[in-house]
Amino acid sequence: MSRTIAVFSSKGGVGKTTITVNLGAALSSRFGKKITLLDCNITSSHLGLYLGVYYTPITINKVLRGEYSPEEALYRHSSGMYILPASISAAELAGIDMLNFKDIVNKLENLNDFIILDSAPGLGREAISALKSSKEVLLVTTPLVSTVLDIVRAQEVLREIGVKPIGIVLNMVTGASYEMRKEEIEQLTGLQVLVSIPYEKDVYRSTAMKQPVFILKPNSKASREILRLAGILAGENIEIRKSFFEKLSEKFKVVTSHLT
Ligand SMILES: Nc1ncnc2c1ncn2[C@@H]1O[C@H](COP(=O)(O)OP(=O)(O)OP(=O)(O)O)[C@@H](O)[C@H]1O
Ligand SMILES: [Mg+2]
Repeated sequence: MSRTIAVFSSKGGVGKTTITVNLGAALSSRFGKKITLLDCNITSSHLGLYLGVYYTPITINKVLRGEYSPEEALYRHSSGMYILPASISAAELAGIDMLNFKDIVNKLENLNDFIILDSAPGLGREAISALKSSKEVLLVTTPLVSTVLDIVRAQEVLREIGVKPIGIVLNMVTGASYEMRKEEIEQLTGLQVLVSIPYEKDVYRSTAMKQPVFILKPNSKASREILRLAGILAGENIEIRKSFFEKLSEKFKVVTSHLT
């Protein structure tokens, strides 16, 4: 029986698809887990694009229309995980009345350790359908007040649906003074911040290069946080070693704090 986890945020562009592909790659390549990623954002699909999976004649759209089985629509990524992409063509939205992701999840459940659903943003039909098809949810947010408040609002809906929040993935952290701190977010939402992923050009670049940053730059701070998140989900505590420069900058901070 697999764990089914929706990667969700009310706000668009905060990193859901980025977290989904990297988490999938980490769980698959480092923890040997059987993983399938579902693109549940069919009106604005990016999952296949972010993994360089372009040639996908059989998509989740066709599965939703009942033309193919979910197994026939799976594509294997070099990291070992499988993805079920959505079409990038608007014409392929035709004839999809029911967003029956739940049926797809049920059919794939016995083949996987984790099924990760890349949700659409907001609380519209697509996002709700992904949430209703999952048992658990990872909430992605940036450290900005407005985005964090969206999580507080979304929690009411999550409770109504009965999907269990695992915790928060804080993304695009720069450390600027106007950003909310981890403790403040935890206090406001009542949820644990599982990891804090920094804003890194390598993440942005990796998206353009169509490979998870976890594969391209496994030692970047973002990748190490992804590894920690995967470890939490896999039930293995990962000790993340600090890089030489991180240790050096911490020592430097201690020295300068004595001088001021
Ligand atoms: N930690 C990060 N550092 C730098 N860039 C990032 C980071 N996380 C995500 N990005 C970039 O931000 C952009 C939006 O990310 P992504 O598409 O994953 O967001 P999303 O929440 O899935 O968006 P949507 O709501 O449209 O589905 C991408 O270009 C991605 O490379
Ligand atoms: Mg997305």
